[in-house]
Amino acid sequence: MNRFYEDVLKGLSAGSRYLESKYFYDKVGDKLFQEIMECPEYYPTRCEMEIFSGQTADISALFRDHGSDFELVELGAGDATKSIHLLKQLMSEDAAFTYYPIDISSNVIKMLQDKLPKELPGINVQGLNGEYFEMLEQVNSSSKKRKVVLFLGSNIGNIPPEKVVSFCTEMRSHLAPGDMVLIGFDLKKDPRTILAAYNDKGGITKRFNMNLLRRINEEFGADFDLSKFEHYPVYDPGTGTCKSYLVSLAEQRVCIGDTDCFDFKEGEPIHTEISQKYTVEQTDDIAAKSGFKPVKHLFDSRHWFLDTIWECL
Ligand SMILES: C[S@@+](CC[C@H](N)C(=O)[O-])C[C@H]1O[C@@H](n2cnc3c(N)ncnc32)[C@H](O)[C@@H]1O
Repeated sequence: MNRFYEDVLKGLSAGSRYLESKYFYDKVGDKLFQEIMECPEYYPTRCEMEIFSGQTADISALFRDHGSDFELVELGAGDATKSIHLLKQLMSEDAAFTYYPIDISSNVIKMLQDKLPKELPGINVQGLNGEYFEMLEQVNSSSKKRKVVLFLGSNIGNIPPEKVVSFCTEMRSHLAPGDMVLIGFDLKKDPRTILAAYNDKGGITKRFNMNLLRRINEEFGADFDLSKFEHYPVYDPGTGTCKSYLVSLAEQRVCIGDTDCFDFKEGEPIHTEISQKYTVEQTDDIAAKSGFKPVKHLFDSRHWFLDTIWECL
């Protein structure tokens, strides 16, 4: 059985229903995420872009200080709008590296494989379509060179906070002492600013969330009626957890194909995404607990976003 299909059945059969956010990204979802990045309310991309357009010389110096040739692996690369600044910097310095963008969306990998050699002639790029660590292991099996891993866009916020140390420990287990990672964390700030980023006035985040149901309809012949679900994000400044839900607006039955049917009560939620916010101290603590040493904190001018660089112990 297809893994996406299995995960949909598992999530919809759970006591508290959920759908995994990694399935947002098909061709339509990738395009909607690019539109989200342009939304006035969606600050994380602009904050991290400020870091990547202004501080790539520092980032490159740190990565290159630690040895010679390396493999630059990006987990969940998306359209690489920010990392392209670092790639340009590394190319301008004649750094010896191969860039491995990893993404679960085959669409973005095809796009990067096509676009990057045109924009950066001479770049070595090896796109990998699949799950983060399965693909990282594939890089390991083909190269013994040191690794530098990028994990941008606060993708790490999509990992529930109680699992973030085990996620980073797993990342560490695929790396060797001296390897480096750069992780983008969205920081705690005015709760209204955070909530607005997941509830833009133009309704693009809503369409992005709803796209999951549309995708299930299209790929598995389900009959979700999108007009009977509402996008509902919440942010708790106490825990730093932002969650998005799709809430059933009516009592209804939804079937996937002929066999798998699910009854929804009016007001029943499907949890679709978590976007955890951190303090700088919390990120240092995660590093220490998962086998890394923080070596540099890079901030945007408002200190709303942190790109932290860790070295593997
Ligand atoms: C929020 S977007 C961010 C893209 C990019 N890092 C940026 O900062 O603009 C998340 C990306 O990670 C990919 N992704 C999410 N979960 C994944 C997983 N488990 N394995 C591989 N890719 C994943 C998605 O397909 C998507 O392209």
